[in-house]
Amino acid sequence: MAVFVDRTRELGLLENLWSSDRAVMLVVYGRRRIGKTLLLKKFLEGKRGVYLLAEEVEEKELMREFSERIAEALDLPILKIAPIDTWRKLLKLIAKYARKDRVLVIIDEFQYAVRVNPALLSMIQALWDEELSKTKIMLVLCGSIVSFIEDKVLSEKAPLYGRITSNMRIEELSPLYIPAFTPNWDNVDHIRAYTVFGGIPGYLASIDPEKTLWDNIRDLILRKNSPYFDEAKKLLREEVREVTRYYSILEAVASGATRFSEILNHTGIPRESLYKYIQILVEMNILEKQTPILGKAKPVYRIRDRFLQFWFRYNARYRTALELELEDKVLEHVRQDLDKTLTPSAWEEVTKHIVVELIRNNEIDITPTRIGKWWHRDKEVDLVVVDDINNKLLVGEAKWSKLSLSDARRIAYRLEEIIEEIPYKPKQTLILVSAPEIADHSKLVEEGIITITIDTYRRLSKNKLAIHGKKNK
Ligand SMILES: Nc1ncnc2c1ncn2[C@@H]1O[C@H](COP(=O)(O)OP(=O)(O)O)[C@@H](O)[C@H]1O
Ligand SMILES: [Mg+2]
Repeated sequence: MAVFVDRTRELGLLENLWSSDRAVMLVVYGRRRIGKTLLLKKFLEGKRGVYLLAEEVEEKELMREFSERIAEALDLPILKIAPIDTWRKLLKLIAKYARKDRVLVIIDEFQYAVRVNPALLSMIQALWDEELSKTKIMLVLCGSIVSFIEDKVLSEKAPLYGRITSNMRIEELSPLYIPAFTPNWDNVDHIRAYTVFGGIPGYLASIDPEKTLWDNIRDLILRKNSPYFDEAKKLLREEVREVTRYYSILEAVASGATRFSEILNHTGIPRESLYKYIQILVEMNILEKQTPILGKAKPVYRIRDRFLQFWFRYNARYRTALELELEDKVLEHVRQDLDKTLTPSAWEEVTKHIVVELIRNNEIDITPTRIGKWWHRDKEVDLVVVDDINNKLLVGEAKWSKLSLSDARRIAYRLEEIIEEIPYKPKQTLILVSAPEIADHSKLVEEGIITITIDTYRRLSKNKLAIHGKKNK
């Protein structure tokens, strides 16, 4: 069952650029398996254009391949007999072709082409200025994250600077879309699937919905030689050169080193380089630097990419057992451990998405101008929404457990007390309690407390929309 989930906004942006009459150079980038290629192929459907996948091979060989593609896609059989042999000739040919009518040219895995031929960027720049900018080409350069940011394509120092019309980073899907991939699972397992795979469509689409979540975890991640058994390394290798350095940083953070100094001690990487590596991991959205939304506290680092968080916690840590094909024993541990360690923070994130959705539906009356967490010494609030426009504050707690009415009340009281300590003096405050199940939660609602449960998740989740492929906001 192949479903195409969401990406309405992205497709809208692409169509807008397409319908303009000017030459367009667009950069599309994002994490491996985030859905770049599928999105661009979807966009290409029914358009005059060609999809070209770069590889790390010699220019001549790549051009022979591209000639074939172009010959077919643009109906230029001559290219089969006399293939082009350089990038320059290829782009000149397309320029000629795009003089009158719009043509879409997608170059995927562009970083490989640049790796083989570093002069490619200035060549494209020269040709863009001379010719391509006067045509109706829509040129899409697509690739990994680090290849585009970091002094490269998108930087002011790079040759293409000033030529790129727009750039688009492809991000994770909202957790509200998880049910679209496994419609028959229990919603609680959807939250767990989000815990393990994040909102990354590549992983979500490879789940076998006929099997249980746990069997999928074993067969996709834990079993030796399974599809994602070595995923962390593959992912890093695609983006950076010093894979082992990055690997050891993530290993350190996964095992509890959350402060810069702790990571420093743990990895032994010199301070200056560590600083740079961490910066790149943050840019890649793999690592996250958290600070409280209000007030001051030292920042903590945590792995933001849920899949990598899972991978480092179980796959990397119990590698020996997994190499010995004892994946069932590790899986047993995962089953015991997941809901105590990783699922609670995933539920927090889901709660945040739900809150935003409820705000959008006018079910919660607040305009978030800042969203985050707050902590001070031993006090902590999972979700804080500040409305600087209307001077309101929402504080919420997310618990991954079944709550009795009195549990939930206690949490609400505690939040009310804690508000006093938050350095923000609102005119109005809202209290929110979130848990998969809250007994008699309508009583809390009567008392003016906002509640979120797994039923709220079910109501707001977007599986039906996705499966029928209907437009949604
Ligand atoms: N919007 C989507 N809806 C459903 N599945 C998707 C979506 N985007 C990607 N996928 C799945 O994820 C896989 C990997 O996506 P792909 O486009 O190849 O990622 P990338 O090019 O970013 O590495 C696809 O083969 C498809 O199965
Ligand atoms: Mg791709």
